[in-house]
Amino acid sequence: MPIILNLISGLTRRLALLGRGLASLVRLIGIAIGCLRGEGTLQQRLAKAVTRPVSFRLIFDVLRAFLPNLVFSKQFITSYDNTGTASVTRYQDVVEVVSRDGDFEVVYEPRMLEITGSENFFLGMQDTPQYSRDVSNMRIAVRRNDVVDIIQPFAARKAAEFVEATNGRIDVPKDLTLPVPAQLVGEYFGTPGPSELQMIDWTTNMFWFLFIDLKKDPSVGAKAREGALRCREYLDTAIRERKAAPSDRDDVLNRCLAMQAANLPGMDDLGIRNNLIGLIIGAIPTTSKAAIQALEQLLDRPQALEGAQRAARADDDRLLASYIFEALRFNPVNPLIYRRAARDAVIAKGTLRSRKIPKGTMVLAVNLSAMFDPLKIDAPNEFRVDRPWDNYILWGYGLHTCFGAHINQVLIPAILKPLLKKTGLRRAAGAAGQVDTMGTPFPAHLVLEFDRA
Ligand code: HEM
Repeated sequence: MPIILNLISGLTRRLALLGRGLASLVRLIGIAIGCLRGEGTLQQRLAKAVTRPVSFRLIFDVLRAFLPNLVFSKQFITSYDNTGTASVTRYQDVVEVVSRDGDFEVVYEPRMLEITGSENFFLGMQDTPQYSRDVSNMRIAVRRNDVVDIIQPFAARKAAEFVEATNGRIDVPKDLTLPVPAQLVGEYFGTPGPSELQMIDWTTNMFWFLFIDLKKDPSVGAKAREGALRCREYLDTAIRERKAAPSDRDDVLNRCLAMQAANLPGMDDLGIRNNLIGLIIGAIPTTSKAAIQALEQLLDRPQALEGAQRAARADDDRLLASYIFEALRFNPVNPLIYRRAARDAVIAKGTLRSRKIPKGTMVLAVNLSAMFDPLKIDAPNEFRVDRPWDNYILWGYGLHTCFGAHINQVLIPAILKPLLKKTGLRRAAGAAGQVDTMGTPFPAHLVLEFDRA
């Protein structure tokens, strides 16, 4: 009996996969036809239309159904050495690529070295003893318990203060989602920087260079190198001054210095500085972008927004988090994870979609697509808040899964909660109510309004 049920369920899911692929193809053709008229050139109109999150999802619906694993000789990413490109779009295959870290390696080392000016940071390392040493050291300094003991209460307090200070009109990135993680880095890590804005600026430029500048834009590189130099100088001074005038603050910097005093390998001044720089790069712009992207998905779905607001007002943090992660599934900060084949490798072995990936190929494991794969995810296009956690690949997977994963799960909801509690929450009229990135890959402005108490 279970065999028959499994057969029916498997067939239904495959039909859903093909049906969705076909329906999305038709919608994409409709979008392309719609671009025949309008402002600007046809190329500009097409580029604008296909880079919207909803278009990405349609494109991946088609690929997942009909061309799940592709290999091209063309190099789409030029910032890191490679010999060609592969794309992988089904959940099972995305997970396979990011789990086989011996076959599909992280590529970030050369740019990490430019940022640290000395040694690699652990996100740029393969699974080596140095990787284990550095991650373990940082896990001792950034403890799991801190998430509820320090990070959540701090973020909740700051976010409430910032929202209350705005009086019914808030520029969300500027007034809330950037300052909270920036101040958290100051308080919890013990490294506030010369100013909050400076820290935001440096970390944004370094992050952009390391992970988003796929086409090697010289101006991005120049800004990141300059920011990295200043950030290194600042951290070196902060470490030196803290050692010269010790304090009993319980922050990450002091914990690192205690580990240094205990002669832990990898924790000399340079090691501490490089680890701190790697962590703070990951912490500020990403958190803000995730909060904004989740908020936007909610704003575009009145029912989901109402549900999230009800959860916020009832202080049901678990349910609120479910709304936020489901919203992020529709537009995650990292829609794909890229790796380079360290040797010739075969993916999806034993299936019709099996492909050989030649050594040197850059493999795009499209986690956005994986999160909409009907072979794995129930009713993927519905907005649901009862999904199991393994339906989500929001911050990496496998060896290099985000170091801040547990922080994100609490920090993003804590930042958004006081705003979501407000009645009459809406976008401001006109351009102000839409995200403005100011030419960066990160939201710089988005004005919302709410009823004043
Ligand atoms: C919503 C916010 C965040 C997002 C979307 C995000 C995303 C990611 C992703 C996709 C990866 C994997 C990269 C890869 O495999 O190539 C990653 C790794 C990492 N993230 Fe995050 N991150 C966030 C917040 C944070 C925070 C708050 C921290 C620091 C406390 C952090 C530190 C790191 C580090 C150190 C790694 C490397 C982990 C390793 O190599 O083992 N991230 N992050």
